[in-house]
Amino acid sequence: MNIIIMGASSGIGAELALFYIERGHRVGCASRSINKITARAAARAAIDINSPDAGNRLLDLIDELGGMDLYIHVAGIGYDNPGLDPGREADIAATNCVGFARMVSTAFNWFESTRRPGHIAAITSVAATKGLRTMEAYSASKRFGATYLQGLRQRAVTGRLPIALTDLRPGWTRTPLLKPHAGYPMLMTSDSVCRHIARAIARRRKTAFIDGRWRLLCALWSIIPDFIWRHIPYPH
Ligand SMILES: NC(=O)c1ccc[n+]([C@@H]2O[C@H](COP(=O)([O-])OP(=O)(O)OC[C@H]3O[C@@H](n4cnc5c(N)ncnc54)[C@H](OP(=O)(O)O)[C@@H]3O)[C@@H](O)[C@H]2O)c1
Repeated sequence: MNIIIMGASSGIGAELALFYIERGHRVGCASRSINKITARAAARAAIDINSPDAGNRLLDLIDELGGMDLYIHVAGIGYDNPGLDPGREADIAATNCVGFARMVSTAFNWFESTRRPGHIAAITSVAATKGLRTMEAYSASKRFGATYLQGLRQRAVTGRLPIALTDLRPGWTRTPLLKPHAGYPMLMTSDSVCRHIARAIARRRKTAFIDGRWRLLCALWSIIPDFIWRHIPYPH
């Protein structure tokens, strides 16, 4: 299988790249820092998803790889913003919403134009399910991604396009995205998250909470009414 991983230089994306390479797949990797991408990738590209020409750079990478069966969108930024700095809020929205839409739509259009069966899997987060204090832009941006994928799934089904869409929603995962010394509840390793992701993709799941504990927590907090939710300090 030919797989493109956008955001493959670090954390979950880097882990996924090695996972698929070790299982014999041809993997094309991209992110801003090309020097941090594994040399074992079949193709590599420096792409900033916030750049207007990032879609064209993705098309070049697909060509270099010789086509694409699976596009995995991992690229994203996230940090808490206790001071509610507007610039930081806007940066998160730019990468996780605008950049996300730019790249995922490019991948979808490519599958549609080639009429070949395809699969788009994108990492949102458990944060997509609730607005979180100090992570307002992050949780909202992840809801954007989840809703975007839902819309694309409707487009694929009503258009009879053989394109599968998977929304991947991990909980806290130990990667450079997190503060190195802070304590996080129900923290997972990127290795374990990577295996859950690969399983969800292989099963062509529509939505996958990672892991079961986070699925349960999200199910519980989804029934908490807002008049209670607004009093709960999200732990991190
Ligand atoms: N860690 C968690 O607890 C957690 C939980 C749920 C969801 N997630 C989501 O999982 C995804 C991966 O996060 P991670 O934890 O693995 O973090 P990470 O180690 O910081 O990796 C983020 C990846 O995204 C790439 N990226 C960021 N901005 C980019 C841009 N403008 N253009 C292209 N690539 C860009 C980075 O590469 P460059 O910097 O080289 O561009 C890097 O490869 C993110 O979407 C994150 O929101 C993480």
